[in-house]
Amino acid sequence: MSGVLKKIEKNPYQYNGEFTLLNSKNASNNLLEKKLYIESYGCAMNFSDSEIVASVLSKNGYRTTNIVEDAELILLNTCSIREKAEQTIRKKLEKFNSLKKSNKHLKIGILGCMAERLKSKLIEEEKIVDLVVGPDAYKDLPNLIYKVEKGQKAINVLLSKDETYSDISPHRLNSNGVNAFISITRGCDNMCTFCVVPFTRGRERSRDPQSIIKEIKDLEIKGYKEVTLLGQNVDSYLWFGGGLKKDFSKASEIQKTTALNFSKLLELCAINHPKIRIRFSTSNPQDMSMDVINIMAKYDNICNHIHLPVQSGSNKILKAMNRQHSKEEYIDLIKRIKQIIPNCSISQDIIVGFPGESEEDHKETLDLMETIKYSFGYMFKYSERPGTLAQRKLADDVDEATKKRRLEEIIELQQKHSLHRTKEFLNQEVEVLIEKTSKKSQLYWSGRNDENTVVVFPKENYNIGDFVNIKITDCTSATLLGNAIGYSKNN
Ligand code: 5AD
Ligand code: SF4
Repeated sequence: MSGVLKKIEKNPYQYNGEFTLLNSKNASNNLLEKKLYIESYGCAMNFSDSEIVASVLSKNGYRTTNIVEDAELILLNTCSIREKAEQTIRKKLEKFNSLKKSNKHLKIGILGCMAERLKSKLIEEEKIVDLVVGPDAYKDLPNLIYKVEKGQKAINVLLSKDETYSDISPHRLNSNGVNAFISITRGCDNMCTFCVVPFTRGRERSRDPQSIIKEIKDLEIKGYKEVTLLGQNVDSYLWFGGGLKKDFSKASEIQKTTALNFSKLLELCAINHPKIRIRFSTSNPQDMSMDVINIMAKYDNICNHIHLPVQSGSNKILKAMNRQHSKEEYIDLIKRIKQIIPNCSISQDIIVGFPGESEEDHKETLDLMETIKYSFGYMFKYSERPGTLAQRKLADDVDEATKKRRLEEIIELQQKHSLHRTKEFLNQEVEVLIEKTSKKSQLYWSGRNDENTVVVFPKENYNIGDFVNIKITDCTSATLLGNAIGYSKNN
């Protein structure tokens, strides 16, 4: 659709579905067209949410811009997972002070987890913030912006029982036209004691499978080649007609017998879209079922990679974190995964310096890493988050220097294991989906193989979006290097 949507009613920012379509010639005269600059922080879910926000606001005449100075509306989609993430946003806001001084019409909004966590405090503490909107309230943005335009501050941080934005077609931002994120669940019911997510993103709910399939179909028509199904805990996906996951026990018999779980959703996606590569993230060990692994093994277009955060290798710490699995159960799960998919790559999230973590506990984490030899991972120092059980009940008693040293130790070990894993590909042929020009050289393409390892190779005559077979000749701990042999059978 190349035209611009113009609203015909009193409140120019309130969307109620009544739009007339202007052709693009008229568009430049359209007084409603405004420039939106949106920046996302944190997890992939936030980046995916920003595409929903851009879609909601496009219906109100907002077009996105990458030039912050051009914007009439700046939105920061924020993360609260660690204190540092919030400090980054506060620093960013300081930088916007001068912009606001030079442009009196500029409005600034905070979206996402920090908005949800701090609510009206954000407006009180950060004077330049006009708008605060939580992750479940993006459909209300047009109303809120209307209020802001009238000179008021606006806030909506209501969490929802059923919002999944399944009816909104995301407006892809900074897209390469090849990879896309698709949210399949929102919220989290796990209540790990360190984690702020259940407070910022609410209770867990799943999205209607038909809308997921439709989104993949739309992407496929546009030429996309890979989708990543997203959720805080994808393996606990359960569609029984909508509503909170915790209410499933109260569902009717029909709803219970026709419910669709994650393995069935995955199969549905794989069968309906055999040409699309499918990834998913994040998996929680206690919810991952062998059905999912069997489906992964059955369909070629589901990638052999599982992001399986463990957080700690010590049972004492896992218990204090309220993780619902032991170290032994976790190791056994990976053993069973590898029995079915021997080349499945596994990645981790690990936190060091959780309250009460002794040197012995830390050593157990290093030992667990030695046992698994993860392909890659994301490692963090524990950051106390207000309102979490750990903050309320446990003393943040591992000193900063010890946290820093332990983090360095696990990062170093992970690098060793990553190299061990990339070396396994030497002299092998791997199928790569080309995603972008390599950062290191204009003459090389960068893409990923099935196991999610980055592969770099000379461009020749290949293009972004091509599936190519690459012979691996060299590697670092993070990247495989090689040469193209030809298009793969999936091209
Ligand atoms: N401190 C440090 N890391 C955290 N994570 C979540 N909460 C915290 C916290 N309070 C990490 C976990 C999680 C990842 C997304 O972020 O490892 O899996
Ligand atoms: Fe950050 Fe978690 Fe919110 Fe994602 S869900 S933005 S990781 S706090």
